[in-house]
Order: sequence, then C-alpha cells, then structure tokens
Amino acid sequence: MLDGRIQELESSLLARITSARSAEELEAVRVEALGRKEGALTLIGKEMGKLAPEDRKRVGALLNGAKQKIEAALESKGRQMADAGLRVRLDAEWIDLTLPAPGPRRGHLHPMTHIQRELEELFVSMGFTVLDGPEVETEYRNFDALNIPATHPARDAQDTFWLEGGNLLRTHTSPVQVRGMEKLGPPLRMIAPGRVFRNESVDASHEHTFYQIEGMMVDRNISVAHLLYFMRIMLTAIFHRDVNVRLRPGYFPFVEPGFELDLQCLLCGGSGCPVCKQSGWVEQMGCGLVHPNVLRMSGIDPEEWSGFAFGLGITRLAMMRYGIDDIRLLQGGDLRFLEQF
Ligand code: DAH
Repeated sequence: MLDGRIQELESSLLARITSARSAEELEAVRVEALGRKEGALTLIGKEMGKLAPEDRKRVGALLNGAKQKIEAALESKGRQMADAGLRVRLDAEWIDLTLPAPGPRRGHLHPMTHIQRELEELFVSMGFTVLDGPEVETEYRNFDALNIPATHPARDAQDTFWLEGGNLLRTHTSPVQVRGMEKLGPPLRMIAPGRVFRNESVDASHEHTFYQIEGMMVDRNISVAHLLYFMRIMLTAIFHRDVNVRLRPGYFPFVEPGFELDLQCLLCGGSGCPVCKQSGWVEQMGCGLVHPNVLRMSGIDPEEWSGFAFGLGITRLAMMRYGIDDIRLLQGGDLRFLEQF
C-alpha cells in the first residue's frame, strides 16, 4: 500500500516542481515533501516501522529513491531559476563599454571677468597701470583723502559696512586713486578694477557687492577734453558700437567740476524699460577733474598738476552689454545662466 502512495507522491511532487514559478513556490514544495516534521515523505518514513521486515527493505529503497529524485529536481529547478534571474539582470544592466565617455564639463570665464580683462588690456595699451587695492580699507583712504567730509551722506552707517578698529569694506574703488598717487606720484595713469561693498537692500538693480573700475590720469594741463576722449574710447570698445552718451553736472567731493555720464539704454534703445527705470538713460559713471584738495592731500601740487578721474560699475556695464535685466543673476552662480556666455 505504501508503494502506491510513494509513487503517487513522487510524480505529483515532481510535476509541481517542474511547474513552480518562484523560489518561494519551490521552497513550499520542498517543505511539503521533505520537511522534518510534516513532510509527506518524512511521515512515510516514520510509518515504515510498522512494516513487515520483508517489505521494509523494498519500501525503504523506493522511498529513498523518491527523496533523491525530489531533491535532485528541487536543486536543478532552483539553479535554473537563479540562472534565469541573472540573465534578466544582465540584460537590464547591459553597458556598452565601447561608447565614448561624456567627458569633463569645461568651465569658462565669468562675463564680469571678460569685461574686466578687456578694459585692462585697453587701458594698458594707452599707457595706464593696473593697480590693485585692498577690499578692507581705512576710513582715511575711502573718505577723508577723497575730500569726503565727515558729514557726507556716503558715510552714513546705512551705506557703509564698518569693521572693528575704524576700518571698513571699501564702498568704491576710489581709494585706489589715493594709493596710486601715493605710490606712483605725478604724472600718472592708472586704473583699478575691483569689488566694492554697500550696505544696501538688494533688488533687480542693487547688490551689496558689485564691481567697479576706477581710472585716474594726472599730468600737466589735463582738461575735460582729455576725460571725454578716454571715456568715448572706453565705451566704444566695450559695446563694439557707437553709443549715445550725455554728460550732466554731478556732485562728487573728489572732483571739480564733476559729471554724471549717462548711456542711452541699450536694452530698450531709449524707449524705457525696468533697467533704465523707464527713463531711457542709465547712469554709467561718475567722473570729473580731480579736486585740488585731493591732489594736495596725496602730496601733489595742484598748481603744477591736474587730472581727471572716473569710476563706473562694471556690473552695470555687463548688464548693458549682455542685456541682463537682474543684477542678482551675475553673482548667483546659477550655471544655467552662466553657460550662456
Ligand atoms: N566713487 C564714485 C561712486 O562709487 C564714482 C566716481 C565718481 C568715481 C566720480 C570717480 C569720479 O573717480 O571722479 O559712486
């Protein structure tokens, strides 16, 4: 009787192993057949004690044969499944190692750096020296030596980042004029590009940190004509086209007479836009003839020497040249913006 049960079990278990579709299903068949307590074949083994000795040997051989076949079938089915799984993964994760690598991403110069370098090259070609000054300045060079009296609104705590010990973050590049006069003496031609800082609230046209370039020429008989000549050369070189400028009287304590030079807005062509605040003109720079007090304070005799000076925001210049309508983009570090240049 056991013989029949063993053969039946064997064929039904083998059939289930063949049709198993997952490792879990296979494991369930294994437990059902060979589990140590409840496995069907295990239970038959336990019943064998009741058999007559002459039957025991035959049934035992049959049972062992069945167990071996089941075990072998489980193992080979398990291996098949693992192989198939590996094939699926290999197909999915296939990589073509012969494809060229994407290559490193190339950087490039920031638009501000481009403009600064162009200006430096231009002025060097006209005999100017490029000077560098510290971003942390003394109150004397940032204000006093530029004839800016203690009561001038530019000294207002709202505009200036004051540091401990009376020093400050320079509010303009003009203190480098003072350093230039001290260092070079007359006659001199110098420019000084660099970063400046103002304690301002930030919006589309104001930043607390921006770039300026300062220029100064001291020689005999310098007049407004010299100033205009150099300004026109500079603006034409920057914008690669004829630009419309206008000169208005402007007050800066370190020049007399002083001017504001406006550029007709290149973004809207003068019809009015957010960058020119709908006026058609953008204040481009301050300039003028160096005030005698400024020369005198740096040890230059204003009876013998005269000079012109100018200072302009190159951040604004970059905005005009590239048609950028928000100053914050320039220092924002957003690659989607910077990659356009
Ligand atoms: N330092 C001035 C500013 O930051 C700009 C300026 C005006 C510079 C007139 C000059 C100048 O050299 O002559 O607003």
